[in-house]
Amino acid sequence: MRLIVVSNRVSVPSNDGVQAGGMTVGIRGTLDRCGGVWLGWSGRLAGDGHARRHHENRNGVDYITVDLPTNDFQGYYTGFANQVLWPLFHGRLDLVAFDPHAYGAYCRINAHFADELVRVIDVDDVIWVHDYHLIPLAYALRQRGVRNRIGFFLHTPFGDPADVMKLKVRDDLAQFLDAFDVLGFQTNDDLRAFRGFMAAQSWLNHRQPMRRAMPPLAATFPIGIDTSEFEAMARAELKDLRLRAAFEKLGSGASPIIAVDRLDYSKGIPERLCAFETFLTLHPEFAGRVGLIQVAPKSRDSVPAYRAEAKRVNRALSGLCATHEWGAFPPAQLLTDGVDRRSIAAAYRRSRVALVTPLRDGMNLVAKEYVAAQDPDDPGVLVLSPHAGAGAELSDGALMVDPHDPIAVAQALERALTMERGERQQRWAAMMRPIRRNDVGNWATTFLAALTSEDRRVREPVPAIVSDPQPVPAGARVSPALQPAIHPARSSRAYASDSKGSG
Ligand code: G6P
Repeated sequence: MRLIVVSNRVSVPSNDGVQAGGMTVGIRGTLDRCGGVWLGWSGRLAGDGHARRHHENRNGVDYITVDLPTNDFQGYYTGFANQVLWPLFHGRLDLVAFDPHAYGAYCRINAHFADELVRVIDVDDVIWVHDYHLIPLAYALRQRGVRNRIGFFLHTPFGDPADVMKLKVRDDLAQFLDAFDVLGFQTNDDLRAFRGFMAAQSWLNHRQPMRRAMPPLAATFPIGIDTSEFEAMARAELKDLRLRAAFEKLGSGASPIIAVDRLDYSKGIPERLCAFETFLTLHPEFAGRVGLIQVAPKSRDSVPAYRAEAKRVNRALSGLCATHEWGAFPPAQLLTDGVDRRSIAAAYRRSRVALVTPLRDGMNLVAKEYVAAQDPDDPGVLVLSPHAGAGAELSDGALMVDPHDPIAVAQALERALTMERGERQQRWAAMMRPIRRNDVGNWATTFLAALTSEDRRVREPVPAIVSDPQPVPAGARVSPALQPAIHPARSSRAYASDSKGSG
């Protein structure tokens, strides 16, 4: 049995660092341990007939990446993945911009990945698909006769069921998810949201026949980090020159506060800067004694909402720096370039407090990495939003705050900066327990155990089919590339009763 991982981004060894984020690092670790294939986008676009496939083998892992067609990429990535699914799943209905053409492109790119996969799959392989870019993939593979077990892990939150029900293509979404054997979510809240959506869907479609022998197992698998690797990395030198300069500006007399995010509206960066400004106003005694270092590499700037967010961040930063000017160094510094993981780990260890205050986040591995990077003897304090998935595991040791409430964040900051060493050690130890227990190895092992367990054997060769095709809602047709000759039946089973999830 081989493991085949599929994700939009692939962390190819020869390209190291270029596309590596927390999620890809986790997948890479899993494949390094058990071998297999990792298939995804090469990061390149190509015109018709010029799309290339790239292959390299490193330590028993085959990295296969494909160029994507220029004409569909925009609709797939910018259009449907990041202007419909991402805002929908992060509770930003105001930013959802549905365009049927973009949806068609999203389906065609998934069909393209399915065609590429069919060329590599053996009968015994287990396929593990990652994230919202690839929700239609199992369905597309089933259409191509693939009978292998296929699992899906959603790295983002699942949207509120009432919001997801507003999606024009919600029937397709339900069908696509139903084609997987195992569906994994970060938290029990996400699992509940998914079940709520599927229950509403099956209620609406209650007249459809129950044909699928075994609906997917849906459960919670909170992602972790490579804890011991991160602990070790944090002891190394901070090499990144710009980040090092930011710390040097503070000198030895000021306490560094760190925040690290992709520049995304879900991360609450302007809200955080505003809360920091409130803190400085309420506690003038900290003037010149603290400095916020915000690392926020630019992201998805083909999407208008991201460009607008970058402006909001800059405005909030200049407002803060103009109001609290104390000479020696600026109260907050913003770094918009990517920083290598080793330097980030070392920066965490040097920081007295981490502000991890997203408005909504799948897991937020920064929270876990910050804790793992601390000196056990003199650890820093984590200020954490309950709207990050990590809140479910770390609430015993972190100072939990509502990211929308600047006064609450300011109070937590004051508490963090004045906390006695004994309390800091206790809180740190409480957080390290789940971080060690649920590390990335455990996450992958648990997911793959569910996917390969005997009782999850796929009983039917492809999703059951009915002779009368079901109508797709008006204006929301499945892309011809995905449209089967005859439609699979929709499962009308209640997901709650089939799941072994903890929520
Ligand atoms: C989030 C998503 C990942 C994605 C990453 C970077 O963490 O869950 O799937 O790869 O953001 O975003 P990008 O759009 O640059 O791939």
